[in-house]
Amino acid sequence: MRINSNCTISTIKDAATALREGNLVAFPTETVYGLGADAQNKDAVAKIYKAKGRPADHPLIVHLSAIEHIDKWARNIPDYAISLARAFWPGPMTLILPRTELAKNFITGGQDNVGIRIPSHTVALALLKEFESQGGLGVAAPSANRFGKLSPTTAEDVHSELFNYLKPKDLILNGGQSSIGVESTIINCTQDLPTILRPGAITEHIIKDTLGISIEIESKIQENKVRTSGLLESHYAPIAKVFIIGKPKAGDGLIAIDSFPTPPGVIRLADPTDSDEFARVLYKALRSADEKNLERVFVIPPTGNDIAVAINDRLRRCAFKG
Ligand code: TXA
Ligand code: MG
Repeated sequence: MRINSNCTISTIKDAATALREGNLVAFPTETVYGLGADAQNKDAVAKIYKAKGRPADHPLIVHLSAIEHIDKWARNIPDYAISLARAFWPGPMTLILPRTELAKNFITGGQDNVGIRIPSHTVALALLKEFESQGGLGVAAPSANRFGKLSPTTAEDVHSELFNYLKPKDLILNGGQSSIGVESTIINCTQDLPTILRPGAITEHIIKDTLGISIEIESKIQENKVRTSGLLESHYAPIAKVFIIGKPKAGDGLIAIDSFPTPPGVIRLADPTDSDEFARVLYKALRSADEKNLERVFVIPPTGNDIAVAINDRLRRCAFKG
């Protein structure tokens, strides 16, 4: 597998061709890096599951370059979903919609709905456009990490997660650090009213302020009619034990907003100045705990109803439950 950092037209063309030929291409998005395959190619999609070590009944998000391609994959699209799409795409939002015939069971995990996203990253959009101009209809891509682990926010993190699992013809496109750093907001658009299945940078409040749509976060995992692996209790986890309550002792790692002082002997892993920066650096900082072989890392999560909601959601899932 090659890492390609010069995202010129010829690199993008080669990457799109690699996808069309059934190989995997990891690519940057504004949320986290994705591990892409041709969403119509069953064998290629099977390679994603193999590389990630992910159970085969977990659905994948189909990535498109533009809104006009959505009805190839989704039907009976509610008006509120069109409003969400117009307002927030390209962007850090995934819509779960009733599927068309094109979205096969190997994409949807056998469910009657499909997840769609148009990412807002120049390299991702260039790749998706070129893939479409080579005859492709959509790129299935989960986060480019091993199952249950932290999503990568740089090409180097993709490499260290997956170098043992990618094949010589697979590619990693390097588009720099993901600007948001936590995965997209997932919105269930299969019912009369939308609900948030996974919080992200597009928050309840942004949706309400922009569109006047009130939307709730579906918190009760058992009641979900749709399956979302990111909703599993233990997910997004480093090897180090993560604590979101209690105080760090000498030798422990600490991630907190910059005004929070570092106690003596504690290893400061990140000191973001606000919630947006917190989200951007969080996964990298948790990874650095493993690189430093720390046993424990303490995170003082930010508060508020912005992206702090998504940060708290991910931290609850990766927090040590011993
Ligand atoms: O920001 C993101 O969403 C990134 C980038 C690469 O786009 N992708 C991502 O994919 O986080 P993944 O597979 O790691 O997480 C997507 C979540 C999974 O938990 C999956 O179960 C859920 O979305 N999902 C996908 N399709 C679905 C569907 N049809 N119904 C319910 N959940 C779905
Ligand atoms: Mg993931």
